[in-house]
Amino acid sequence: MMSDVQEVLITEEQIQTKVKELAAQIERDYRDKHPVLVGVLNGAFVFLADLMRHLSIPCTVDFVSWSSYGKDTSSSGVFRIMKDLESNVESKHVLIVEDIIDTGLTLHYLLDNIRARKPASVRVVALLDKPSRRKIEAKADYLGFQIPDAFVVGYGLDFAQRYRNLPFIGILKADIYAGRGTPPDELG
Ligand code: IMP
Repeated sequence: MMSDVQEVLITEEQIQTKVKELAAQIERDYRDKHPVLVGVLNGAFVFLADLMRHLSIPCTVDFVSWSSYGKDTSSSGVFRIMKDLESNVESKHVLIVEDIIDTGLTLHYLLDNIRARKPASVRVVALLDKPSRRKIEAKADYLGFQIPDAFVVGYGLDFAQRYRNLPFIGILKADIYAGRGTPPDELG
């Protein structure tokens, strides 16, 4: 697996330090608010698990899984809900937990969808942000790291479902995804 990684962009130690900092900010802002952490599957599950373990305030967790309708329609932001929330978030403080904001389409439409359920508030915590690739406005209220336009894997992020178990964020070698027909940025 390591031999498929061109460069370690963010080390395990840097991630863990940042996750603790983010949890401390969230803890301050959400004291007495009992937030619902909404993880966006699959990529966010590792980040969410670490973040939640650093929160000492009462909170609950739920998950959504969205899939874009494929290569050509993803830019139009047409999404299919593969797994919806199990809880009712009306009047609750929702904190969306994302692995990475890339084009911004997933987050933009997820925010619309969650707001329609009339939560008391909704905010976003994202581990990574690639602002140079934005197609639509989308912003994290709490952000781990801004990264350059490179395809990264590890700490929950995958290519073709692999590499999620790497404890760091690394740039995948281009020849790993070359010739597969689907550019990695079109994969969920
Ligand atoms: P967006 O809708 O383009 O912002 O896409 C966000 C989703 O695309 C993320 O939740 C990831 O699942 C996936 N994604 C975007 N960039 C990367 C990357 O560099 N590595 C792995 N997955 C990525």
